Order: sequence, then structure tokens, then C-alpha cells
Amino acid sequence: MGKSYPTVSPDYQKALEKAKRKLRGFIADKKCAPLILRLAWHSAGTFDSKTRTGGPFGTMRFAAEQGHGANNGLEIAVRLLEPLKQQFPILSYADFYQLGGVVAVEITGGPEVPFHPGREDKPEPPQEGRLPDATKGCDHLRAVFGTAMGLNDQDIVVLSGGHTLGSCHKERSGFEGPWTSNPHIFDNSYFKELLSGDKEGLLQLPSDKALLNDPVFRPLVEKYAADEDAFFADYAVSHQRLSELGFADA
Ligand code: HEM
Repeated sequence: MGKSYPTVSPDYQKALEKAKRKLRGFIADKKCAPLILRLAWHSAGTFDSKTRTGGPFGTMRFAAEQGHGANNGLEIAVRLLEPLKQQFPILSYADFYQLGGVVAVEITGGPEVPFHPGREDKPEPPQEGRLPDATKGCDHLRAVFGTAMGLNDQDIVVLSGGHTLGSCHKERSGFEGPWTSNPHIFDNSYFKELLSGDKEGLLQLPSDKALLNDPVFRPLVEKYAADEDAFFADYAVSHQRLSELGFADA
């Protein structure tokens, strides 16, 4: 891939390390790891590889992007993080939100996702309509993640495992309920539940269930349900890739 990362100043690096420690405490205290992971993903997932617009460049700080239908509820995440962000004026929102996503996975027991700083904040939000629609199937997932963002089939399945954290909220998405019985622990239970079918109190979106009916996706679901180490290793790679869409490309 030939990534060439920018060099940040020693002061920037120092602020980043301090912000990471603060984020660990803050996210644990507020129990908001799922929401912050969703913030990081919805920030990055707007990247369009053709026009090289959108992506993890801090634009969720704008009310206009928070107002996109797919982002319902993320204004809460932005508001929660703002006082902490104010303590680190040197950091870009872009790096801060992506660091939040990495910390959310780490402190809930997930893998350590490598983090490179140096993203710059873009001055305006991407256009609306780039994030996936939960009522659709595999062709749609491949169009959004593959054709638009530039990710691959394995990225789609392993990143869907992010739903091991958190819940749907009726007033935000129209769906309601968690995917697993331990929504604040990052483990491979999302894949186990997906294979075991509908269960009272738990939810699977049409876009989650679609993974079971595809000849490439299904074997990966089975692999990650059987082998948490494989899930963690692949997740860390794909999460890093997501967090760096449009960033530091050669
Ligand atoms: C594959 C396509 C995806 C679709 C269609 C989708 C759709 C959704 C929907 C409808 C919700 C519920 C929002 C709410 O009502 O609060 C949600 C929540 C969530 N999504 Fe996804 N998602 C996708 C991929 C991902 C990815 C790639 C990640 C991260 C790696 C992720 C992480 C989350 C998390 C952590 C929540 C829970 C948020 C909370 O508890 O507040 N999702 N997603």
C-alpha cells in the first residue's frame, strides 16, 4: 500500500499520548465505547475513493454532518468529547475522533489497533448518503465498502464485528436492541450470535444477516466465530485501514 505517514511535532506526539490516557478514563467512565466507535467509523466511512472526498478528517464536528440521517445520535458523541478535545487544541479533530475509536476497542477488551497521527481537518462535510443502509444486502455492502471506500470482502465481514459493541436505538435508527448479551465487551460474540440465529432480546440487522448468505462472507463469519484470535488480528488490520482512508497514501 506504500503509506507514507506525516511526521508530527514532539508537542503533538506528547498531546496525543496524554489524550489517549484521558480518553481511556473518559470512555470507561461514561460507558460510551460503542457510541465513540460508531463516531469514528461514520467519520471514516464517508470516504469516496474516486473523488477522494469524505473520510476521517474531523468533519463530524459540523452540525451539518451530524444532521445526516445515518448519523442520528452522533451529535451526543461529539458533545461528550468536546470538553476533552478543548484540552488538546493542538490535535486535529480528525486524529482525536479516530483515536477515540481505537481507545473504545482497546478498553472494552479488543485488539490494539495501530494508530498514526497527522490527519488534517477538512473545512466542510462530505455529501450525505455514503454510509451503508441496514435494510440492504451484500451487493449494497460491496458497493459502499468496496467500490466507494476501496475496502475488500474481508474488511466488510471483520468490521461488521464492530457490532459486538453497543445497541440500536429506536429513536436513532428505527432498530432497537443489542447484538450480543455483553454489549460493552469487545469479543467475537457477534459472530457466534449471528450463526446461532434469532434470540429474544438480541437483534440482527438485515445487513448483518446478509453476511450468512454469501459464499465469500459466510466462511469468514464461521472462522471468526470459531477463532477469536483470528478475528482480533484481522480486525486490527481492517480498523486501521478504515481509520486511514484517504490518509497518508503514497
Ligand atoms: C456493515 C454495514 C453497517 C451497517 C448497515 C450498520 C448499521 C448500524 C445501525 C443501524 C446501528 C444502530 C444505530 C442506533 O440506532 O443507535 C449501528 C450501530 C453501531 N454500529 Fe454499525 N453498521 C455497519 C457497520 C459498522 C462498522 C464497520 C462498525 C465499526 C467497526 C460499526 C459499529 C457500530 C457500533 C459500535 C454501533 C453501536 C452504537 C451504540 O451503541 O450507540 N458498524 N450500526
